[in-house]
Amino acid sequence: MNLLNITDLGPDGVLKVLKLSRRPIKKLAKPLKGQGVALIFEKPSNRTRHSVEVAVVQLGGHPVYTRGEEVGFDVREPVEDIGRIMAGYHAIIAARVFKHSVCDRLAAVSSVPVINMLSDHSHPLQGLADALTMVDEFGSLDDRTVAWVGDYNNVARSLGEVCAYLGAHLRFGCPAGYDVPADELARFEALGAKSVVQTSDPKAAVDGAHAVHTDTWVSMGQEAEKAERLQIFGAYGVTTELMARADSEAIFMHCLPAYRGYEVAVDVIDGAASRVIEQGHNRLHSARGALAYLMGVR
Ligand code: CP
Ligand code: NVA
Repeated sequence: MNLLNITDLGPDGVLKVLKLSRRPIKKLAKPLKGQGVALIFEKPSNRTRHSVEVAVVQLGGHPVYTRGEEVGFDVREPVEDIGRIMAGYHAIIAARVFKHSVCDRLAAVSSVPVINMLSDHSHPLQGLADALTMVDEFGSLDDRTVAWVGDYNNVARSLGEVCAYLGAHLRFGCPAGYDVPADELARFEALGAKSVVQTSDPKAAVDGAHAVHTDTWVSMGQEAEKAERLQIFGAYGVTTELMARADSEAIFMHCLPAYRGYEVAVDVIDGAASRVIEQGHNRLHSARGALAYLMGVR
């Protein structure tokens, strides 16, 4: 099995990964003992690289980090040759890529699990940490309202999938052209979301919400669109005034890295409602849970 999207886990798999994420390390029985895990990065990373490397070590394995240009997907050799070769060295192949299709192609030829460590389409490891953080906070996401403000991007898609599985109400406040396609809205409902609302008004999106999420307006690979995006998203920053419309106990979340003064105000991200550091730390626990699950631990 692979982890290219949250939907590869299904609702039961998500619950099991969240449970494994909180299981003491010594009770996980070192499922990667004596084995390698390939970590290939076409883009920069702090949280993902460090959390997955440490999680591999905690499970008894050896992480091998490689920059994207060293393996050269479709430059130095075809993705399929890389996937087949690495599957002979490693228990798991994990990759952070520009094009999601590279993950699909690795998975199509690999005899070992493939993990998407962020693509242009999704960021499932982030979605698991987001869910773990909210479940820690609220006990469960059933009937809770999770709001996303800003760009409907890779992080938003994985968040939507995991929250839908956990029975949350979903609200998306995104500008036209950067919002959730209609078939995606329907898909979230089919996955189990209690309700799904899309609006171009960020105030309506966060009204009474229990968790307010956002992310950068300029994802990696979109740098050429920066000036245009800063204009389009200007009214979508999460400010203290916006947070005041959420539930009185609402938390603020952001996958990081954050751009203070753009998608989030300093007072919000560094304020009492912010859970971004816990969320970042949960990247380690949820990565360990996900790796253990992929190695067959139940
Ligand atoms: N949130 C996240 O994936 O961070 P990095 O890009 O630092 O890995
Ligand atoms: N949406 C961002 C997330 C970074 C962790 C990006 O893709 O750059």
